[in-house]
Parts: sequence; structure tokens; C-alpha cells
Amino acid sequence: MIVTLGPNMIDDLLRVWRSADLSYRPAGRDEPERLRSEVALTTVSAFGWQEQGTVVGVAMAHWDGRRGWINRLAVDPSWQDRGIARRLIEAAENWLKDRGALVIAMLIEDDRAVSQHLADRLGYRYRDTVRYYAKYQFEDA
Ligand SMILES: CC(C)(COP(=O)(O)OP(=O)(O)OC[C@H]1O[C@@H](n2cnc3c(N)ncnc32)[C@H](O)[C@@H]1OP(=O)(O)O)[C@@H](O)C(=O)NCCC(=O)NCCS
Repeated sequence: MIVTLGPNMIDDLLRVWRSADLSYRPAGRDEPERLRSEVALTTVSAFGWQEQGTVVGVAMAHWDGRRGWINRLAVDPSWQDRGIARRLIEAAENWLKDRGALVIAMLIEDDRAVSQHLADRLGYRYRDTVRYYAKYQFEDA
């Protein structure tokens, strides 16, 4: 079942990211105290998929007032390929649509083939006319 991950459930996020080998930045954006503040924002929601009381999949939704973003999707390898990511994305989409999002987007790294396949299947279209530019405040931010 879908659950909302509040500030006291950051360990679940971190555990699933690690199990799925999703890179994260504990000295930067993913520092636990920072994550606790992030999920407490009214413009952010972290979702979990729970099996037998344990969170085995996670995704975050961020509403920036213009676009909705789905970030940090991961499912524990023992639970992959059962439709959990699809359900997490649907939960995040519904939350973003409720806030008025007309466009929902994901940034997916080049080597994440399963995630790209899933995005295609769920109606997302790859825009090859856009380049992602970012300015980091420090290397591991
Ligand atoms: C991407 C990820 C979250 C998908 O989670 P999941 O719960 O297994 O996904 P689902 O079961 O909802 O499956 C989605 C689709 O991918 C397919 N799929 C799942 N695992 C697959 C695999 N190992 N190889 C090929 N296809 C796979 C499913 O069959 C399904 O396709 P379909 O709709 O055509 O049947 C999971 O593979 C993961 O955590 N990967 C590592 C972290 C990552 O890449 N995160 C995304 C960062 S952008």
C-alpha cells in the first residue's frame, strides 16, 4: 500500500535508495536533516510502497508552482518488476495534479533503461531539445 513518508521516515528513503543503488549525496541534498525539512514542506511529498510493514519502494513529488517533478524513484531489488514503481508514480502524479500541475516531469540518467522504459509506458515523452544545466554550490551538493 501507498504511505506518505514524513520527517520521521527518512531512514526508509535512504535504505531503499541504497538497496536500489541509487546514487545520493549524504553531504549535500540528501543530508538527513535537510531531507527532514524537505519532506515537511507543503510543496513536497514523499511516497512509500509498504509490504508487510516495510517500505520497499519510494518516490518524491515536488511542486515548483510551474511544473510538477517526480524525483528519487527507487524500488528494493527483491520487490522490483511487480508494478510498485508504476503505483508510486501514479500516487505522485495524483498529488501533483491536485496542486494544479499541467506538466509533470522526470529527470532520468542516460544509463537508467528500466526507468526510461517505465516513463515511456506511463505516457512521458523524452524531449531531446532540452539540456540540463546545473550550478552546484560545492562538488557533492
Ligand atoms: C526503475 C525502478 C524504480 C522500477 O521499479 P519497479 O517497481 O521494478 O518497476 P515496475 O514493476 O513498475 O515496472 C515498470 C516497467 O519496467 C519493467 N521492468 C521492471 N524491472 C525490469 C528489469 N529489471 N528489466 C527490464 N524491465 C523491467 C516492467 O516489466 C515494467 O514494464 P511493462 O510496463 O512494460 O511491463 C527500479 O528498477 C529501480 O529502483 N531501479 C534502480 C534505481 C533507479 O534507476 N531509479 C530511477 C532513477 S531516475
